[in-house]
Amino acid sequence: MNIGLLSVSMNVYSTKRIAVEAEKLGHHIELIDHTKCSVKLGSGKPQIYLRDENITNDFHAIIPRIGAKVTKHGSAIVKQFEMNGVFSTARSLGITRARNKVRTLQIMARKGIPIPETLFSINPDNIEEQIKILGGPPVIIKLQEGTQGLGVILAETKKSAKSIIDTFYKMDTSILIQKYIEESNGEDIRIFVVGNKVVASMKRTSAVGEFRSNVHRGGKSVAIKPSNKEEYIALNATKYLGLGVAGVDLIRSKKGPLLIEVNASPGLQGIEAATGVNIASEIIKYVEQNGRRRRR
Ligand SMILES: Nc1ncnc2c1ncn2[C@@H]1O[C@H](COP(=O)(O)OP(=O)(O)O)[C@@H](O)[C@H]1O
Ligand SMILES: [Mg+2]
Repeated sequence: MNIGLLSVSMNVYSTKRIAVEAEKLGHHIELIDHTKCSVKLGSGKPQIYLRDENITNDFHAIIPRIGAKVTKHGSAIVKQFEMNGVFSTARSLGITRARNKVRTLQIMARKGIPIPETLFSINPDNIEEQIKILGGPPVIIKLQEGTQGLGVILAETKKSAKSIIDTFYKMDTSILIQKYIEESNGEDIRIFVVGNKVVASMKRTSAVGEFRSNVHRGGKSVAIKPSNKEEYIALNATKYLGLGVAGVDLIRSKKGPLLIEVNASPGLQGIEAATGVNIASEIIKYVEQNGRRRRR
């Protein structure tokens, strides 16, 4: 098959791993830097260009690896491939839904997937009440579109929560306020879903003096076997968002697992190292099954 890999560079670990496994399995894979793509709409079938090369009909399937900074343009390019009938491991709608934590949690709440109690607002006039609605401090304050643990703040007192929230509202920055799940103990669970299958899972434990378990914040990972309920949450969250490949993050609370976010372009480095699973190859096999079906 001809596979397009939407990523800004082959020097990204996950991008390279996917390309290597695609070639091992006998496919032709090409890097499409979506930031260098243009789409021409108007007369006839919309045409997709990479710089000045017309790539409209070059691919049977695409694998989007859209970074946080160019979600809007990246998902528009994915959308165009989709509309032209090309199979994608992530629907454009799924990418934009996963990008925003409030949007993700709204969908999860509607579908009955357990999440931490979360509030969003932009009203600076009743911040005390907003904190009270969540049961008081400590609370977590998060940028709606943050990644890698940056923009996740633990406010331990009402005073600090109030001043932080007030600052964000005044800056027109979209945030959410969330109940702090203390018993999660600085740990979270990453479940990697490909197709309708959990292919790998790990637990990340935060560094000393840190509540965020992100690897970029010094968190350490080990392979785990998730519970049936955790697998159920991960598989359904992926499906509800419209993704074929996803990294689903959960924290363990007294009341059971809670979904905190879903990543539409989950990294492979940490989880392949922690679990020994060849996830890149699983992604290509998923593309084989679906890209071919689409072609007939
Ligand atoms: N409500 C919460 N209670 C306790 N810890 C949390 C909560 N939300 C997030 N965390 C911790 O902070 C980390 C980063 O939060 P997350 O929502 O995943 O943002 P990011 O997109 O930046 O990774 C999580 O992996 C988890 O360890
Ligand atoms: Mg996270």
